[in-house]
Amino acid sequence: MCGIVGYIGSGDVVSVILRGLTNLEYRGYDSAGMALRDDGTIKIYKTLGKLINLKNELESKRKEIIHPTAGIGHIRWATHGNPSLVNAHPHTCTCGKLVVVHNGIIENYKELREELLKKGCKFRSQTDTETIAHLVADEYASSKDLEVALRNSVIKLQGAYAICVMHKDVPDVIIGARKHAPLLVGIGENENFIASDTPAIIEYTKKTIYLDDNEIAIVSKDKVKITNTKGKVVEKKTEILPFEPVALSKMGFKHFMLKEIYEQPDVIRNLLNGKLYDISSPIALNEVKIDKGIIKNLNKIQIIACGTSLHASLVGKYIIEDFTGISVDVEPSSEYIYRKTTTDESTLVIGVSQSGETADTMTAIKQAKEKKSHILIITNRPDSNMARYADSLIPVNAGIEVSVAATKSYTAQLISFYLLALHIAEIKGSLDEKYLKNIKHELIQLPYKIEEILSNTTQIQECAKKFSSFKNFIYIARGINLATAYEGALKLKEISYINATGYAAGELKHGPIAMLDETMPVLSILIPGSITYEKILSNSEEAKARNAKLIALTSSDDKNLNNLFDIVIKIPKVSEILSPSIACVPLQLLAYYIAEFLGKDVDQPRNLAKSVTVE
Ligand code: AGP
Repeated sequence: MCGIVGYIGSGDVVSVILRGLTNLEYRGYDSAGMALRDDGTIKIYKTLGKLINLKNELESKRKEIIHPTAGIGHIRWATHGNPSLVNAHPHTCTCGKLVVVHNGIIENYKELREELLKKGCKFRSQTDTETIAHLVADEYASSKDLEVALRNSVIKLQGAYAICVMHKDVPDVIIGARKHAPLLVGIGENENFIASDTPAIIEYTKKTIYLDDNEIAIVSKDKVKITNTKGKVVEKKTEILPFEPVALSKMGFKHFMLKEIYEQPDVIRNLLNGKLYDISSPIALNEVKIDKGIIKNLNKIQIIACGTSLHASLVGKYIIEDFTGISVDVEPSSEYIYRKTTTDESTLVIGVSQSGETADTMTAIKQAKEKKSHILIITNRPDSNMARYADSLIPVNAGIEVSVAATKSYTAQLISFYLLALHIAEIKGSLDEKYLKNIKHELIQLPYKIEEILSNTTQIQECAKKFSSFKNFIYIARGINLATAYEGALKLKEISYINATGYAAGELKHGPIAMLDETMPVLSILIPGSITYEKILSNSEEAKARNAKLIALTSSDDKNLNNLFDIVIKIPKVSEILSPSIACVPLQLLAYYIAEFLGKDVDQPRNLAKSVTVE
């Protein structure tokens, strides 16, 4: 996945594109580049590594940049061709007059490359993107019209693309096109933008046109025209972005991840607001557009998601089955899309995605849509491509999440599942009234309990310091918190590169126990009141007997835990069914502080990108 920013206008082209790329850095950061239309020529700058290197490069070359009027920039997360200067975007055609930046994968690039080589094109990189540059230039040579050239080119491309092109001989325009990868146009005063995502433009304009697949945007500084691949003008709605530039500031926190962890109480309040008024009123989830009669008879739900969203979905399964009795399957999108599924028109399919962009989940949703299932999307990006496929849409409203490691969006997904399950349960009448009221009461209290955790993190920091030198971790839990163990372990892996694995505590003795010794700490999630509490205690004892260092995450007041565990991290009391939404917080903090102590790049961990737009 990569980030694209195109700009044409009377502003400071270099600064605008750099700002935009900075706000898209979550999309990739192994190399960066920019092409400028300046003084009648195209000037290209590329650097390896993070965007700061491109900033420094451009700063050092400031004297040779005279008065650019347009430019296209790119931040790369390598797919075809390793991260290197030659593979960094923008790519050019043989004569260097046409430049292109691209996000996505061109599946038929080898065939196209063969044809273009025969025509005399000189390739310099190993990327699929360079093919686009030669292809458009070849079309331009015959049509002498950049719009026509791009249109004729994109119909030959197979795969996914968001593209932005600029040509030396076509001075007053930048052109974008998209298919299966996001691209939007930002509309300003005397300036316009093309970008992969809204953070790139939010500091300049809130007016946006989202391109759909197979659309082309012809953008000059005071005009925007959108056409389809047949050249027909498409009338598009201009939308106003729902957030402020301040969402992209660290607000005094050292990292976005820490800021986002601390935002969680407000994220929950925000999400509950208007949906859960008081414990006696029914959940107001008007977002769910399924006929009540259909909900009453619903007997199959499938949830598809990846990564952290998949873990939220595993919790969702427990909640929905517990509250409604409806059978729920959860599957990684990447598995769902390559097998014969039982999805049909009577299945409710729930797609969960922070970004609404993840390629595997997107494909899974499209497949389910073809089978005429009702599609419910839970996402933090109601403006995303995935959201457009939704029959019902629950926006989790967590605000822009910048850190690659998902935190507040996870909690917001969990809360969405509670609201959804309660809503279904109320329609079906599947919950006892007293229990229902208790759950609602506890939900309203959750933000305060998370605030309690966040108000004193000393113990978590001490734990992080003590354990930051270990190379491996095991997280164990049972029941609804098994997903918490998976998620806690994923957080640690992602940002500290420590090998951490979540296991069902009962599975420990079926294999993983062989790994236990004094070098393998075991973190146990223990929620008193659950029928498995004692069982997990026994599993922890088994680990202790193999000399493993033990950490407990618990709401128990049992002083004896201090004898068994090396560190006991306390969380406020909460019923087991709601406990994942607060148990995840200390685990996010533990991962954060371990990574911090190890001096890792917390917000932009190696090899990762925030949303994965390739399958
Ligand atoms: C979470 O910390 C990761 N960044 C990753 O696992 C992520 O959750 C996954 O790629 C799915 O992304 P999505 O929620 O945007 O679909």
